[in-house]
Amino acid sequence: MHPLTNIAVSAARRAGGIILQYYRRGETGNVERKSENDYVTEADKRAEAAIIDAIHHAYPDHAIRAEESGASGDSRTVWIIDPIDGTANFMRGLPHFCVSIGCQIDGKLEHAVIYDPVKDELFTADRSAGATLDGRRIRVSRTLRLRHALLATGFAYRKTGDIATYLPAFNRLLTASGDIRRGGSAALDLAYVACGRLDGYWELGLSPWDVAAGLLLVEAAGGIVSDPFGGDPLESGRIVAATPKIHQVLEQRVRKTPMRS
Ligand code: IPD
Ligand code: CA
Ligand code: CA
Repeated sequence: MHPLTNIAVSAARRAGGIILQYYRRGETGNVERKSENDYVTEADKRAEAAIIDAIHHAYPDHAIRAEESGASGDSRTVWIIDPIDGTANFMRGLPHFCVSIGCQIDGKLEHAVIYDPVKDELFTADRSAGATLDGRRIRVSRTLRLRHALLATGFAYRKTGDIATYLPAFNRLLTASGDIRRGGSAALDLAYVACGRLDGYWELGLSPWDVAAGLLLVEAAGGIVSDPFGGDPLESGRIVAATPKIHQVLEQRVRKTPMRS
């Protein structure tokens, strides 16, 4: 395993241990409201601090772009961190959330780790060496047709403009696909596309830390990731990720919806 991926794995496991301590006690620690339906718990903050600490212990000069504490440092290497992706699930005791860590070098995602502490599942990716789940190589599914595809999505519930863009696509895909899931963790949705549990995923209105690691996982596992409206999915937060045979048609169905500003 690449040394940078190795650091991300130990950071993610450390954070996972902290999160599980709260989860098993049925606690979150103090909760703060960031905005409507958007909360940060003590567990998020402590997990994020542990991840940054582990990275800086090994690489003091590397830059950080983290959901709860923001951006810091100036380096060719930037770590993009979501300490708990799926905080709403975590807060309600729903066992579906993860730690997500992506590592960018010169603006390109090179290494990624997604760790689900409840299921103890560890996804890793290196751009040059592929993607793994618990040490075994993973590939996207071989599904050929959208009508047989199991898709996942996330509702664009925070920005009303995104909802208006999103709902027509959801309606179209509900009839055109096999079925649709809404799990509540964008990072796990992407990890599941990477290992073939899902055939495709789309969402609008995301942040870089939601998708950085998952985006690389899907690509390293042979899938395709794009912004259906033509931008860079990492920065635009608009994402379609799928196995190659499904990707184009899924993207078309999402794109048919006009964008609103
Ligand atoms: C959220 C989850 C959710 C997605 C939201 C994200 P958070 O991340 O990934 O599935 O629909 O857009 O913000 O807030 O739990 O880290
Ligand atoms: Ca997130
Ligand atoms: Ca989060």
